[in-house]
Amino acid sequence: MPLLKIVPIEIRRRITKQNPRRKKGQKLDAMQEIKKLISEDPEIAKTNEMSRFPNFGFEYRGGITELYNSIIRSRNKKPKIMSIGPGLGLDLAELNIDLNSVGIESSIDVLSLQKLVNINILKLLNGKDYSQNVALEEIFSNPGKYKSVIRELLGKYDFLIAALSAGIYTNYSTHNCFFMFLMLAPQGEAYIDVNHFDEDKFRQMVKNHNKRYGTDLNFKIENVTKTIERIKITRIS
Ligand SMILES: C[S@@+](CC[C@H](N)C(=O)[O-])C[C@H]1O[C@@H](n2cnc3c(N)ncnc32)[C@H](O)[C@@H]1O
Repeated sequence: MPLLKIVPIEIRRRITKQNPRRKKGQKLDAMQEIKKLISEDPEIAKTNEMSRFPNFGFEYRGGITELYNSIIRSRNKKPKIMSIGPGLGLDLAELNIDLNSVGIESSIDVLSLQKLVNINILKLLNGKDYSQNVALEEIFSNPGKYKSVIRELLGKYDFLIAALSAGIYTNYSTHNCFFMFLMLAPQGEAYIDVNHFDEDKFRQMVKNHNKRYGTDLNFKIENVTKTIERIKITRIS
């Protein structure tokens, strides 16, 4: 697939525009770095050919741009980010390089049904792959088996994105939104594409959780877009 097709138009525009905060001579062109990585790593090219998921995902860019804008707005210089179902993770690598280039030391962890993120891409993300080769709902419904993973994930992230992933390809959309909410740090924001999201059920889950664990979790839900059902959940407390 031609590289230009896999780079989001909004990010391409942003990268090619002169960035006033970039130091002169600094090599910070995310596209160039990723292009180099792909050409040097035949495995990435092969996975890209073989997997339909990332191709599908690459066509869909709104979520990443939204995330970029929210991170910039937050003024958080070291945001911890989680991507649930990142596909190959190329767009996230691009996002991370781009954030780094404006002085933001972001790290992006990933968790996916299939372990698709290549080790070299993971290095660009500066994060960890928590994928267990099972669905998100499977991990959180087996707290005994996945205790150490769950413990690391809870309350950790300033930002979470689940673009066309665990909020959609599941019979447990609302449950998965709740699990993703539990991964947020206070004031953390999750951008999740959903279907069959039931806000009342979600509210009840948070209530039950607070009662059972003596916590005081609270949230705000917004509809981000109407074209695809994407919600934003903010952890208020
Ligand atoms: C269509 S791809 C989207 C890839 C990427 N987010 C994008 O927009 O380009 C679906 C991704 O979600 C993951 N996924 C789907 N259902 C999931 C679930 N229930 N739990 C965890 N990951 C899931 C898949 O492994 C894959 O990485």
